[in-house]
Amino acid sequence: MAVLVTGGAGFIGSHVSEALLARGESVIVIDNLNSFYDPQLKRQNIAAIDHPNLNVIIGDLSDAEIRKQGLEGVDRVIHLAASAGVRPSIEDPAKYIHQNLMIPTLLLESMRSAGITKMVWASSSSVYGDHLDTPFSESASVMKPVSPYAATKVGGEALAACYNHLYGMDITSLRFFTVYGERQRPEMAIHKFARLMMQGRPIPQFGDGSTARDYTYIGDIVPGVLAALDRLKGCQVYNLGEAEMVRLDRLIDGIGQALGQTPQIEVLPLQPGDVTRTNADIQRAQTQLGYQPTTSIEQGLARFADWFLARPWLWQNE
Ligand SMILES: NC(=O)c1ccc[n+]([C@@H]2O[C@H](COP(=O)([O-])OP(=O)(O)OC[C@H]3O[C@@H](n4cnc5c(N)ncnc54)[C@H](O)[C@@H]3O)[C@@H](O)[C@H]2O)c1
Repeated sequence: MAVLVTGGAGFIGSHVSEALLARGESVIVIDNLNSFYDPQLKRQNIAAIDHPNLNVIIGDLSDAEIRKQGLEGVDRVIHLAASAGVRPSIEDPAKYIHQNLMIPTLLLESMRSAGITKMVWASSSSVYGDHLDTPFSESASVMKPVSPYAATKVGGEALAACYNHLYGMDITSLRFFTVYGERQRPEMAIHKFARLMMQGRPIPQFGDGSTARDYTYIGDIVPGVLAALDRLKGCQVYNLGEAEMVRLDRLIDGIGQALGQTPQIEVLPLQPGDVTRTNADIQRAQTQLGYQPTTSIEQGLARFADWFLARPWLWQNE
């Protein structure tokens, strides 16, 4: 039986699909190649993972026929399609509710009709809101999200609990902590800062540089996703982070070093919806999934830089 990966042309989805194919699974991808960022990059992601056991369906998950087609011959679903990003969710909250709550509901209903009971899906560290007690533990309250995006991820976790309760479906929510690496979304901090540095433009530093994030290398997240898929039972929630906090000023310096550039900084006020820090407590994932991230920020940035510098069109086409 195959695995359906929704959003499989995206950043995390293309890596997850590649890893599934590499271990001998058949993979069906559904992706609408939307224009949140350049669809050409998504086509390149798909081209990079081309494989005889990969079936790519270009279509929107709102479409019942597309969902039905994508679920044929499938016994597990990894749902990664979503509208990501905190700031754009403040501009267009209704779109985020549709994408991140309505679509998972439609997908779960289609899975029920098809008799499919197993799903792993992407929640987010943003469910913790501007939580100050670090590291963030899964047992903390998540009822104070600070953006519509975060609210949709809290809602998605509630939906997972509900479908587990009503129908006994096995659903695991993975709270990803800022994922980076090869194929990272171009509007995310590391990719965006790299592009600006190569263009000789200033880096917008929101705040005094002391905000800090747990940046998780894609090569560490992917085994966590596969381990969650292999251990689906009941309704579970796991943090998947690197478990290391990196200050924004250190991150900018690190990107400059990896690219051989000297960053110019433009200091700007903190933005609404931003949180001041994120840091994952990964004990539960370590114990129950065998999750073990190993990539330091310096190693991860070096790998990102190798990928990025080999693709000059990523910064020259603007
Ligand atoms: N990247 C991170 O740091 C991060 C952190 C926390 C959570 N997440 C979550 O992980 C998931 C994947 O994130 P990503 O960074 O790979 O994003 P991405 O935008 O690169 O990938 C999402 C993919 O889903 C597709 N898609 C969106 N809506 C669709 C629809 N209605 N029908 C079909 N396809 C659709 C998009 O075209 C895109 O290719 C998302 O749910 C995101 O919220 C990501």
